[in-house]
Parts: sequence; structure tokens; C-alpha cells
Amino acid sequence: MRKNVEKQSRPRTAELGEPFQDSPILKYISADLIESLIDNPYESLILVDADGIVRFMNNSYEQEYSRRREDAIGRHISEIAPETLLPEVLRTGKVIVTPSKILEDKSQIVIRVPLRKEGKLTGALAKVIYAPPKALQDFARKISALEQDLEVYKEEFRQAYSSRYTFDDIIGETDAVNNAKDLAKQFAQSDSAVLILGESGSGKELFAHAIHSASHRRNKPFVSVNCTAIPNELIESELFGYEPGAFTGSLKKGKIGKFELADTGTIHLDEIGDMPYLLQSKLLRVLQEHEIDKIGQRKPKHVDFRLICTTNQPLEQMVEKGTFRLDLFYRLNVVVISVPPLRAIKADIPGMVYYFLRHLETGRANPVKTVSGQVMKILQKYHWPGNVRELKNVLERAIVVCRGDRIEVDDLPPAMIHTRPGNLSSGNQAVVPQTIKEVVESAERAAIIQALELNRNNKSAAAKMLGIHRTALYQKIEKFNISF
Ligand SMILES: Nc1ncnc2c1ncn2[C@@H]1O[C@H](COP(=O)(O)OP(=O)(O)OP(=O)(O)O)[C@@H](O)[C@H]1O
Ligand SMILES: [Mg+2]
Repeated sequence: MRKNVEKQSRPRTAELGEPFQDSPILKYISADLIESLIDNPYESLILVDADGIVRFMNNSYEQEYSRRREDAIGRHISEIAPETLLPEVLRTGKVIVTPSKILEDKSQIVIRVPLRKEGKLTGALAKVIYAPPKALQDFARKISALEQDLEVYKEEFRQAYSSRYTFDDIIGETDAVNNAKDLAKQFAQSDSAVLILGESGSGKELFAHAIHSASHRRNKPFVSVNCTAIPNELIESELFGYEPGAFTGSLKKGKIGKFELADTGTIHLDEIGDMPYLLQSKLLRVLQEHEIDKIGQRKPKHVDFRLICTTNQPLEQMVEKGTFRLDLFYRLNVVVISVPPLRAIKADIPGMVYYFLRHLETGRANPVKTVSGQVMKILQKYHWPGNVRELKNVLERAIVVCRGDRIEVDDLPPAMIHTRPGNLSSGNQAVVPQTIKEVVESAERAAIIQALELNRNNKSAAAKMLGIHRTALYQKIEKFNISF
């Protein structure tokens, strides 16, 4: 007992300060209120100085831990509570919160915080908060439900933003394909921006996916943005996002931009030639700084991404015409992959045909195994303005209409046979439209196909010729399932 009295009379550690009369906060509050704040049955409180000497404990602590304040004050905390983590807080200066502990009749959370004065550690405080078990269990249940939801969304995000193809999905053994693949595999290892050129349907997107799949970013997001499909005025917010309430009509919660979504992964800008001129300079800055300016946010945000651009437009000519920025062109034109058009790799057609016969999902009970010799000849002679996409579509249609297990000439689209000199078949009849809607749609479809052919599949030029916006053209191409 004497020993304790001696310890109690230890001089007060100067850093913990004198009682509170002059406190700028406590002058607003009565002594009664302070007492109920410090001493209530829902919280146990113990306070030590920088040496670990107990300076205070409240009534609730006394009761919960069966300690007498008079005995404890002045003694080292490890004598009072041998298991305590307060010495650890004093040593590291870090907060320690132990997960809620469910006792039989009570649940508790222990929060231990370091106390500082002018940056110097002066002591530490442990607070034990009690809650009825049900409240904590409900809380824990809510958290675990949220965690499960989050996992579902994470998985959905992963699936929506991941590459779907690898180099094994790119069929072709000709030198032109092999060279493009070798180059792409080499570039996949680096983080430089890649520009993939090629006609529509030639497989540019496939290459973009394959590069990501072979890169060190393969398990990170692959985010694809089609610059043609988004109206000009929305591209900036789509790419860079905006803060809540950044402009009239913006979403309340703000928007995460595609660059931010692609953080640590790859962003694929499809149809880069359709990027609005003003935005091209922003893109160049983003490429150089790896920082994005979210609309409505003052500080730029660092984003770690790899850029892959694809286009079927002649960027060089666009630079000459002044519709594509020279500085961006120089920046993108360093690492370039040219995907050959199908007519330049006709030797690959048989390999592709058999690949698509095996891989196209057409829901047929009896699979189509082969094509007749005559069909193969037509396929190899055809000029394929829509490239591999057109070949794939032709085969898909042929598989559906084919009656046996071999595709015959009559299973090919009539236009493909009729447009060839020396018509190889006469068994096809044009489908007669039944309604005005069908007549209009069929005329629209034909006009779009013709405009695309005349403009060598350049969608912007075709849209101009047709007198519609390219976004509208894009929608119609999708709607009519046009391969070009
Ligand atoms: N070498 C190939 N091997 C297998 N499939 C291919 C190949 N090239 C293209 N394809 C297929 O053809 C279709 C069109 O390819 P993709 O979308 O990559 O073309 P694209 O060049 O991006 O066209 P666009 O300019 O119209 O966007 C896809 O279904 C793709 O899987
Ligand atoms: Mg594409």
C-alpha cells in the first residue's frame, strides 16, 4: 500500500498538462457534462503518460476490470493490464483498433490512440466501447453483405474490362500476318503507346486485345473506347470523367473516366482518327504526363496506363488536311503495327475458314465440317472489302442455311455470287420485302454498304456522303449488322 502511495505522489508528467481551466474547448462545457462524457457505462477509459504510467481511469474501467483507481494511478500499465497494447502504441505512435470481440453478453471494440502535444508523444489512451451484441452483429452482417456485393461488382468489372483474345486467336500463317504478330509480341513487353493500322474488319481490335493479354498488365483492366460511337461533346467526360456537379446536366455522383478505369492496365482508343481536334491536344498531354484533368477537379490525377490506338483512317492525310494534330501523330507513329487486309493474305483463307467452322457458335445439332471445292474457290477469289469480319459473317450465314455438313455455293450470300463474273449459281432469289419499313430499311442498308465501299470503309467520309452524323451511321451499321 505504501508503495502505491509513493507511486501516486510521483510528479505529474509535464507533457500531459495541467487541469483544464484554460482549455479553449472545455471552457464551453460544464464540469457535469465533462464528467458524463468521460464516465458513462458504455465506455471504459484508461490513460497513460509517455512512460506508460497510469494517469487516469474512469469508473466504468474500474468496474469492468475490477481495479481501484487509487491503486492503479501511478503504476505502470503492464502491472494493471498485462495484456494491454498501450506500450505498443507508445512505441510506434500508431492507432490500434482491435476487431469487435463478441463476449457472451457483451460486444466490445478497443481503440487505442497516441496522445500528442505539438507533435511530441505525451501519452496514450485506451477506450473500450461496449455495444449490445445484436447491434454489432447487425453491423457485421451489413459489412459482410456489402463485401459480398463488392466482390460481385469487382468480378463484373473484371469481366467487362478484360481482354478477350490472345495471339493464339489470331489466325494466319502468311508472312504478312506472322510479321505483324511478331512485332506486336515484341511491343507487348514494353509500355509504349502502340498504333494499329488496318482496314475495317482486318483484326485491329484482336491485335489490341492480344497485346494487352501478352503484356505485364494482363491481369489489369483492358478498357476499350470507340471514339466514333460517342458524340463529340461527350468524349471528354467519357475519357476523363468529372467531379460531382461539375456542369449542368452532369450526374450527381460524378463520373469515372475511362482513363481512370484503365488505371494500371491498358486503354484502347478505337477509331482514334475520329477524336475531336481540340481533345487531341489534351490526349497528347495525358500521354506525356500520364496525368488526367477530371472536369471540375483542380488537381490533375496520376494514371498508370498503356495506350493502344487503332484506326482505319489515313492519319497522315488527315494531318495534311489539318484534321489530325501533327504532334499527336508523331507521338503515336512511333510503334506502328499494320494489319494486312484479307485480300493480301488470301493463302490464309482456308485456314480461317476451317477455324471459323470449328469455332462459330450457331447452335446447330449437326456441325458443318467443310466447304465444297467450288465454295473455297469463290472465297479465295472474292475481294473481301469487309476483310475477316466479312468472311466470318459469310460463314456464319452459310452454316445457318446449310442443309448438310458441307457448305455449298447456294449457301453463300446471293450478292457474293451474283457480283462475280461467270455466275456460279442460279438457285438464289432476292428476298422480297413485305412492309414499307422493310423496303426503307433495305434501301438504307444498301445505301450504307455502297457509301462504305465508295469511301473504302472510312466511316466519317461515308457518313458525310450519306448526310448523316457518323454516330448515327455507327448505330445503323450495328442495327443492320453490316459487315464491310
Ligand atoms: N486473323 C484473324 N483471325 C481470327 N479472327 C479474326 C482475324 N482477324 C479478324 N478476325 C475476326 O474478325 C472480326 C473483326 O475483327 P476486328 O474487330 O478486330 O476488326 P477491326 O480491324 O477492329 O475492325 P474495325 O475497323 O471495323 O473496328 C472479329 O470477329 C475478329 O475476331
Ligand atoms: Mg475495331
